[in-house]
Amino acid sequence: MKFFIDTANLAQIKEAQNMGVLDGVTTNPSLMAKEGIKGQDNILKHYVDICNIVTGDVSAEVIATDYEGIVREGETLVELHPQIVVKVPMIADGIKAIKYFTEKGIKTNCTLVFSAGQALLAAKAGATYVSPFIGRLDDVSTDGLSLIEDIRLIYDNYGYETQILAASVRHPMHIIECAKIGADVVTCPLNVIASLMKHPLTDNGLAQFLADAKK
Ligand code: E4P
Repeated sequence: MKFFIDTANLAQIKEAQNMGVLDGVTTNPSLMAKEGIKGQDNILKHYVDICNIVTGDVSAEVIATDYEGIVREGETLVELHPQIVVKVPMIADGIKAIKYFTEKGIKTNCTLVFSAGQALLAAKAGATYVSPFIGRLDDVSTDGLSLIEDIRLIYDNYGYETQILAASVRHPMHIIECAKIGADVVTCPLNVIASLMKHPLTDNGLAQFLADAKK
């Protein structure tokens, strides 16, 4: 399973990259705003800065919601760096644009996916990644992980190559359950990736070993 970091914070991306387990980055307009990145030129430069830190795919989201606008923005984004993946919202014009990008050999990430039907459409359009937001489903008392199960089953039934990129991942058990189901990728903040490492028996055992080593 691939690990992407879900942030636009360069320091955190560097830290995750240095851990040696990072496969890519996802961003969205809210994450860019959180870092105070404003204005088209600064936003585009920031995507390049991210690509220069990591070796894998970097999702950059379009703001346009009409077909022509999405295509124009996406084509500008992919010119920035070969690692850029165009992140497109799950709307009718978005699906049409994903189909266009697919035919041009441009990688896409279909975002804001909350149902199996939406995921099926994204795969039919040829999206490279589909991003079901499991945490946001949990927030409205719907089981986000069962959506990952449904998408896995549907994609396997028909051999769709679209990768399931579990998004809005909030805690380590989300990652473990996604791995058991067979999600291709999880994207989450640095602290969630790092929390996989923690176990009190590891800390206690190490303290004991170090103490015994001095004897
Ligand atoms: C995915 O690509 C999104 O950027 C992200 O995972 C959304 O997560 P959130 O629900 O924690 O904002």
